[in-house]
Amino acid sequence: MALVVLASASGAPGVTTTALGLALCWPRPVVLVDADPVGGSAVLAGYFRGGVAHNDAMVQLVLARRDGRLPDELRAVLMPVPDSEVLLLPGVRSHAQAASLGELWPELGLELRALEATGQDVIVDAGRLGMVSSPAPLVEQADLALLVVRSDLPSLAAARQWAATWGSARDDGTGAAAAGLVLVGEGRPYTAGEVSRVLQIPVVEKVAWDERTAQVFSVGQQPSAKSGNSRLVRSYRALAGAIDAMVASARQDAAVRGGRAT
Ligand SMILES: Nc1ncnc2c1ncn2[C@@H]1O[C@H](COP(=O)(O)OP(=O)(O)OP(=O)(O)O)[C@@H](O)[C@H]1O
Ligand SMILES: [Mg+2]
Repeated sequence: MALVVLASASGAPGVTTTALGLALCWPRPVVLVDADPVGGSAVLAGYFRGGVAHNDAMVQLVLARRDGRLPDELRAVLMPVPDSEVLLLPGVRSHAQAASLGELWPELGLELRALEATGQDVIVDAGRLGMVSSPAPLVEQADLALLVVRSDLPSLAAARQWAATWGSARDDGTGAAAAGLVLVGEGRPYTAGEVSRVLQIPVVEKVAWDERTAQVFSVGQQPSAKSGNSRLVRSYRALAGAIDAMVASARQDAAVRGGRAT
């Protein structure tokens, strides 16, 4: 169905937590890509509490791209996440490794898009925008680029410029086909309506503020009996539905525009 990229403009609004929670609630098989150039392989260190050996997937992909083996190697390095239909592409161990990823991103983007034919969607954690070695080509190739924000002023001030950049890139055809916001913790202090008015792109979904359950995803905290039906998990399910609807509508718009052009 789609290549969906999540990213932040500043701070740590919850990109990794949301991307993983969303992947675990996704209604179809999905590949979760840790493309954050900061390094540290946040999902392996957090959700898996360091208990799963790192497979240096990104480094293997860089080498495979040079030898023309990228599609096969991509399939080989994906790690199954237990009790789910999620396959994880772990991020680099360090920012130094990330420096070698520049030429990988555009081709990896094409391979990830091609997974659609196998019935797999792709969710990318792109980390903070504007970093050296950021996966900008993945954002450009995305069906939907989601800026994860909190509702406080510092978060919104930083996000405003990227929302404008993404909005114009979408309109002139150089960016993601659709762009929107994921609002983590509405009303702390601003509402979704206020946030989308200021940032001029839509709030695709609000993610509930729930520190306890968030730590299940961010640091591998033991889930409680209520975690599976917590407000947070319900908001991830709602986010998955909203993403489906937004991608379908962007594709329909593109088809109509294409139809008019021919
Ligand atoms: N919905 C939420 N409610 C409460 N706390 C949350 C929520 N989502 C994430 N958090 C918490 O916010 C903190 C930062 O989360 P996370 O690491 O996912 O952010 P990030 O945007 O990926 O940061 P970084 O830029 O460092 O990669 C973590 O402590 C996490 O548990
Ligand atoms: Mg992160």
